[in-house]
Amino acid sequence: MRHLMSPLDLSVEELDNLLDLAQDIEASPQKYAHACEGKKLATLFYEPSTRTRLSHEAAMLNLGGSVLGFSSADSSSASKGESVSDTIRTVSCYADICAMRHPKEGAPMVACQHSSIPVINAGDGGHQHPTQTLTDLLTIRNVKSRLDNLTIGLCGDLKFGRTVHSLINALVRYTGIRFILISPEELRLPEYIRHDVLDRNHIEYKEVVRLEDAMPDLDILYMTRVQKERFFNEEDYVRMKDFYILDKEKMKLAPEDMYVLHPLPRVNEISVDVDDDPRAAYFRQVQYGVYVRMALILTLLDIHVD
Ligand code: CP
Repeated sequence: MRHLMSPLDLSVEELDNLLDLAQDIEASPQKYAHACEGKKLATLFYEPSTRTRLSHEAAMLNLGGSVLGFSSADSSSASKGESVSDTIRTVSCYADICAMRHPKEGAPMVACQHSSIPVINAGDGGHQHPTQTLTDLLTIRNVKSRLDNLTIGLCGDLKFGRTVHSLINALVRYTGIRFILISPEELRLPEYIRHDVLDRNHIEYKEVVRLEDAMPDLDILYMTRVQKERFFNEEDYVRMKDFYILDKEKMKLAPEDMYVLHPLPRVNEISVDVDDDPRAAYFRQVQYGVYVRMALILTLLDIHVD
């Protein structure tokens, strides 16, 4: 039985196969419409979500399966003190696969150690968000036709943004990847990722504070929101929250074939006047999130469609 805790749980070959499967699903959705008939997905969300929960549910429904679950810790027996391990033992009796989001780093890992069904990490604290990474990779591959030889700007809250941490882990396995890390000093990428992931893999990167300085060099700009829920005090969040605002003027500094991604939700960091720019790919990214999660469910359940 396989789980997905981190993008590194999949080899590059498996990842490429999964993205190929997602693209086939996009091209021929009817072929997969009954693939999971009789199967159930449980969504166990201890933290708020719109895209990750609903896209997992949409994915299972598109495959002909069913869904059950809870959308907050308050509406589950976690509010009475039940442990993650007891919860997953229980859910293993009801469902065939589950997706778990939790504010504590490592909680989905605890779950998979006590689970008899595949567990998908749907985001654990400031740690990892592997299904967002699969979505991001599929989007990058579709807009740029490759996953290698790219200069990728990661902008915003690089300290707490788990989507950034997961994406870096996945991309360093491709050749010719360069990063421009765009953040204020307080929200720099954690040292353990700079040293253990970037330096150890001999990845070229530089750190800048001004978004304008990076724009002309980018193939992809990955914007992120400042993660309000991870700050220890409101004052720091208020000071940081509008540090970057991508608008039409700044987009003029970017190449014609530079695409903007964002895991969403956005707050103020991308002005709505950018939405009509053909290089704004963040709503296409949302759609790809469904195809890639359909591919992931099929892969983890070892279901093959001819
Ligand atoms: N991208 C993402 O994780 O969005 P949600 O928090 O809405 O699930």
